[in-house]
Amino acid sequence: MRNLILSPLILDITEYILPLNPIDVFGNQNDTALEIGFGEGDFLIELARKKTDWNFIGIEIKKKRFVKAIKKAEGFQLKNIRFLLMDAQIAISEVFSKDSFSEVYINFPDPWPKERHKKHRFINIPFLRRLSLIMKSGAILEIVSDHKEYIDYILEAIQEAKTFRAEFEYPHYITVTPSDRPKTRYEIEFRKEGREIYYLRFINEKEDEIHETHCNNSATDAS
Ligand SMILES: C[S@@+](CC[C@H](N)C(=O)[O-])C[C@H]1O[C@@H](n2cnc3c(N)ncnc32)[C@H](O)[C@@H]1O
Repeated sequence: MRNLILSPLILDITEYILPLNPIDVFGNQNDTALEIGFGEGDFLIELARKKTDWNFIGIEIKKKRFVKAIKKAEGFQLKNIRFLLMDAQIAISEVFSKDSFSEVYINFPDPWPKERHKKHRFINIPFLRRLSLIMKSGAILEIVSDHKEYIDYILEAIQEAKTFRAEFEYPHYITVTPSDRPKTRYEIEFRKEGREIYYLRFINEKEDEIHETHCNNSATDAS
């Protein structure tokens, strides 16, 4: 295997003082989007090709997929994309500074359907609260899955975390993904099989702002 350590597309966090701001990585003030669990990277690469005035960072835990994605991206000579090989749960707590991201995508997170495996699901209340901190106020979080039970679980966690506001009216998802949104490998496969796909979109509301709103409301109530 080629020595991938030489690829400029690898985000090598040992080169930086943590927590890391995307400005330090890309050397510009452009908005940055994050994809968690990018698989073979097709979705993120397509976005990076389309939106050249944005920066893109992907995190993936599986090395083979990480390597495949880098090889694909190298073919397009992209300057606005970096790939991080890491557990996203560690990355969002330890690696990035507050207010780093304007958009975050989580496409087809592993649903771990068996009861005894549910503890492996990474989208939970603490995860959402930490994710909110590294996202800008008003930033967008998109989650897509074919697994309705996981979708319900995520919606409950979102409600409990109190850091995101659902963009869609109840039941807070739609089953048509926007036509200009790149399709991920899993989405293409699942659609071929005729499975229903659930698309969720949230707006980040920072905890300090939520707190402020509540305090202001209480002040108004008291007067
Ligand atoms: C079902 S696949 C979906 C891949 C891709 N997003 C797609 O839609 O085609 C889930 C991906 O999340 C990755 N993943 C699972 N847990 C992760 C974690 N803690 N941190 C980073 N990536 C993770 C898996 O390795 C896998 O590539």
